[in-house]
Amino acid sequence: MPRIKIKEILNTEKYDFQVTVKGWVRSFRNNQFIALNDGSCLNNLQVVIDFENMAEDLLKKITTGASISVDGTVVQSQGKGQKVEIKATNLEILGECDNEQYPLQLKNRPSLEYLREIAHLRFRTNTFGAVFRVRHSLAFAVHKFFNDRGFFYLHTPIVTASDAEGAGEMFRVTTLPFDNPPRKEDGTIDFAEDFFGRSTNLTVSGQLEGELGATALGEIYTFGPTFRAENSNTARHLAEFWMIEPEVAFNDLVDNMDLAEDFVRYIIKYALDNNREDLEFLAQRLADEDKQKPVAERHEMGLIEKLEFVVNNSFERITYTEAIDILLNSPAYKKKKFQYEVKWGIDMQSEHERYLVEKHFKKPVIVTDYPKDIKSFYMRMNDDGKTVAAMDILAPGIGEIVGGSQREERLDMLEKRMQEMGVPTEELYWFLDTRRFGTVPHAGFGLGFERIVLFVTGMTNIRDVIPFPRTPKNAEF
Ligand code: 4AD
Ligand code: MG
Repeated sequence: MPRIKIKEILNTEKYDFQVTVKGWVRSFRNNQFIALNDGSCLNNLQVVIDFENMAEDLLKKITTGASISVDGTVVQSQGKGQKVEIKATNLEILGECDNEQYPLQLKNRPSLEYLREIAHLRFRTNTFGAVFRVRHSLAFAVHKFFNDRGFFYLHTPIVTASDAEGAGEMFRVTTLPFDNPPRKEDGTIDFAEDFFGRSTNLTVSGQLEGELGATALGEIYTFGPTFRAENSNTARHLAEFWMIEPEVAFNDLVDNMDLAEDFVRYIIKYALDNNREDLEFLAQRLADEDKQKPVAERHEMGLIEKLEFVVNNSFERITYTEAIDILLNSPAYKKKKFQYEVKWGIDMQSEHERYLVEKHFKKPVIVTDYPKDIKSFYMRMNDDGKTVAAMDILAPGIGEIVGGSQREERLDMLEKRMQEMGVPTEELYWFLDTRRFGTVPHAGFGLGFERIVLFVTGMTNIRDVIPFPRTPKNAEF
């Protein structure tokens, strides 16, 4: 008999047919009822066995975590909590699981911190099953959104020689012997001898290459891993994260904001429409977690309510200058509640961003036109000579989820900014060529994939929404 997935059985309207199911035992009660999960969905399938006619040693091997194959009949369930179950006619143990050693017992519900230490097994819990099914859906929705709108998926390189953000937070890629690298006469390392004949690193962003694609194919997006060697050990930063970067020829800043807003709302809606069961489970998890907290720290909306709110309401749009004014006039500022200084020119800290979205507007906010000195070299200079056509989307509970801008398409202006900011113009001749040959206004942004997964799942630590987190001092599994 062919194997059929538990998700399919649980959704069946028919009964009394034969199936084979395979999965992992979540629990076994009264020597009779197995809760079986195969990862296809959150819910377990109840398998009812005839223990009186089963060999004692086989029965003993039906333990939490063991993998089994069951042949049986799909029947309407008599018990509460499920409409179908399987009456087993044959059961085979595929892999035993010693419960003395298995760290995932249902009895003692493990904490997220503990599960991070056994991240190789955490996929087997309801929470992580739900998170990674939702993550998959969101990734699929990303491709669907852009494909449906005629964008081309461009694969930008993972190993590059450029520092797209100019922030110097790169992981070097080299095959030179680190204990005795070849050196030039002046004593510096001779990267001409290295694998690529130059100094290379893991990409921090596919944007610069994305611009090459967009200024020919029109509308492209990237969706790949990016790497940042920034030493920030926070619940929002990873050293390896996935980023989506659309880049569109002929778009200005307003088009860019419209695209970003449509995109974020679309993928959230996609998850609401396709992952209801998992999201309801995660909403309950969050509500339970909230009950442990003081009332003032609890979320105002439930998870589903929050997601529906974001899908159905447009984002607030303000300039950086307006944002600073709001902060300076806020009760929080007047009562000296902010730890960091507030004045025009600052790179807003998380406490400032959170005040704007969570306290002041209570919805996602797009902040535009930041001071040029706190943004990257490629952003288009505004006529005031002080600000650039940048936009960040700030989300409740997360802070920045999107960073983007209209690009500086004027060659002389771009070269001037690069020189001012110490970005090498000769090395980036290929980037400047887009401005030399048929330059066009264009714009794009980057969405941190894990940040949106955090937002949608209601998880609070970014390490819990990527299967294998890479953070300072941590690259296990
Ligand atoms: O604001 P960032 O640095 O912008 C860029 O990289 C641009 N090249 C994007 C573009 O215009 N094409 O990063 C974009 C987004 C941030 O808004 C944030 O969501 C996410 O990437 N991000 C991180 N996510 C997890 N861990 C980190 N260390 C992150 N750094 C940035
Ligand atoms: Mg940014």
